[in-house]
Amino acid sequence: MKVGFIGFGEVASTMASKLLDEGVEVLTATRGRSERTKKLARDLGVSECSDILEVSRRSDIVISAVTPSVAMKVAREVGNHVRGVYVDINNVAPSTVKKALDYIRNGRVVDAAIMGRISKDLGVKILASGVSAHDFAKLTDYGFNIEVRGDRVGDASALKMLRSSYTKGVSALLWETLLAAYRMGLDEDLLEILEETENEGFRERAISRVISSALHSKRRYEEMKDVESFLSENITPIMSKCTSKTFKRIFMELDDLRMVFESYTMIFDNIKSL
Ligand SMILES: NC(=O)c1ccc[n+]([C@@H]2O[C@H](COP(=O)([O-])OP(=O)(O)OC[C@H]3O[C@@H](n4cnc5c(N)ncnc54)[C@H](OP(=O)(O)O)[C@@H]3O)[C@@H](O)[C@H]2O)c1
Repeated sequence: MKVGFIGFGEVASTMASKLLDEGVEVLTATRGRSERTKKLARDLGVSECSDILEVSRRSDIVISAVTPSVAMKVAREVGNHVRGVYVDINNVAPSTVKKALDYIRNGRVVDAAIMGRISKDLGVKILASGVSAHDFAKLTDYGFNIEVRGDRVGDASALKMLRSSYTKGVSALLWETLLAAYRMGLDEDLLEILEETENEGFRERAISRVISSALHSKRRYEEMKDVESFLSENITPIMSKCTSKTFKRIFMELDDLRMVFESYTMIFDNIKSL
């Protein structure tokens, strides 16, 4: 089995490290790429190809793990050269992944979505959809956590966006409600009352949600804009617009996002205005 990577950053190097440990041959092409990318590939001892066309020709599974804005471009470039299965694992909208995978002439394609941050143990779930999703899922034999969600390209990416719509929406609602409660001196009481109706551990989860909403508000705002436009293809969204607005407000109103926030009260004390 040979697994090739187009792009060799955090995702590819983490996956490659595991595959190499398992005795799988890993290929990539780093000519013309940054020093960081070259070093990641060199340090792991990955087999170097002359270009991404060669990676695509020689791999049983080729995984595109590039900067999201070039996902379509690289698929177009290698489309006629893919011999095995082509997996697009990039954070892109379902409509983009559909367009990208249309370029893969042999039709053996997979839309894959990493449901969180990639970690060394590869415990993070990867959803996969598309006609060759089951072939990609064979990597579970090497410690990957891949779950097949049907044969339609776009479904894996859509599920990731739908989950994002829900989880970020809940965070935004929590932020607004707890901030109001804090201004009224009722935040501790509110958390206590909510814990009675929510599952055990709600208080800790709620506080960690509020702190991470502040820390990642800018990125979440940007992600919500994508969610909003994705939902607009199917419905007229209201909630996701408000979620975007909430995250925008957080990073506009927080005095210094680089501060170390130890508690939610410290964050709320740093909000410039109501
Ligand atoms: N990191 C995560 O935990 C995570 C989680 C979910 C989804 N994702 C998605 O997975 C993808 C990869 O993420 P990452 O964290 O590995 O990103 P990354 O560390 O920034 O790596 C991106 C890689 O793509 C290369 N690249 C850029 N343009 C290219 C081109 N035209 N042709 C070939 N290679 C090109 C970069 O090379 P240079 O260094 O030369 O620019 C770099 O090696 C992204 O789409 C991301 O949204 C990542």
